[in-house]
Amino acid sequence: MKPLLKTLTETFGPSGFEEALRKIIQKEVKPFADEIRVDAMGSLIAHKKPTVNVKNSRRIMLAAHMDEIGVIVSHVDKNGFVRFTNVGGVFGRYTLGARVRFMNGATGVVGFDKLEAVDQAPSMSKMYIDVGASSRKDCPVKVGDFGAFERSYMEMGNRLVAKSMDDRAGVVVLIETLKAIKATPHDLYFVFTTQEEVGVRGAGTAAYSIDPEIGIAVDVTGTGDTPASLKMAMELGKGPCVKVRDPGMLSDPRVVEWMTFTAEKAKIPYQREVLLVGSTDAKAIQVTRAGVMSGALSIPCRYIHSASEMVDYEDLKNSVKLLTAMLSKPVGFG
Ligand code: CO
Ligand code: ZN
Repeated sequence: MKPLLKTLTETFGPSGFEEALRKIIQKEVKPFADEIRVDAMGSLIAHKKPTVNVKNSRRIMLAAHMDEIGVIVSHVDKNGFVRFTNVGGVFGRYTLGARVRFMNGATGVVGFDKLEAVDQAPSMSKMYIDVGASSRKDCPVKVGDFGAFERSYMEMGNRLVAKSMDDRAGVVVLIETLKAIKATPHDLYFVFTTQEEVGVRGAGTAAYSIDPEIGIAVDVTGTGDTPASLKMAMELGKGPCVKVRDPGMLSDPRVVEWMTFTAEKAKIPYQREVLLVGSTDAKAIQVTRAGVMSGALSIPCRYIHSASEMVDYEDLKNSVKLLTAMLSKPVGFG
């Protein structure tokens, strides 16, 4: 799982430009899916049909987003300096000193106008990207070009650090779950969605076409285990988180029951999640068509939306175990 996670996190795919990710994922899931398609929004849908016990079958959609936060060029000045704006939740404090790679391969570093107060992070409108150009003419990027933050994957014991763990950690968990399922009564749709970071856009349209009975997003969640962090219960390394609530949705209590019941029965550690900031694809799935019974399995992650997002390897393995246990048996609440 680690080499695949390294490849996924070191691949570039800001919202709307998920193609390189889609290619890697498609190759991984192909031997394990009955059919694969790509919808108009670019989401990759891998369908695994029921193999046993079909009378207990449910149509279940699982979603992990391929896209990552990034930047878009909004202006190039006469000296070739690039002004930019955010694609998704890019924070100024994480952007200072960052390296950017554009989809055409051009690279740059983030600089900033003179500071009013030395210890204050400037707003994005006071930052620019220096792409090594000296005029508008020799600038390798133009208005409307997309980029994402450059940073390599690294391991610190069980802690894994990379850009775009949000949500390549979820992507790798879904891929490994699909590979691990030997038999299932369910009609399973593994969906690798697009444009989550700009407002859960790909998940909604994919859910509309799949029309699932149950929807589960697999994404990262913030933790409360660092100095002076928000007071939240989630910790790194203590197991996957069963989402109960985030600002965008309330999980269906039956999905929460199903997850916690399965975890306890299989002796997999888990945590209950009440997230204070952010949301996931489950928010869009839940309100598709006439409504979908939805929840989310979350991977604890520190420093979300920085270029050094940190997860724990045990949490990834336990997430795969829990999803595999849930999807291999009829849906049960105890
Ligand atoms: Co995110
Ligand atoms: Zn995410």
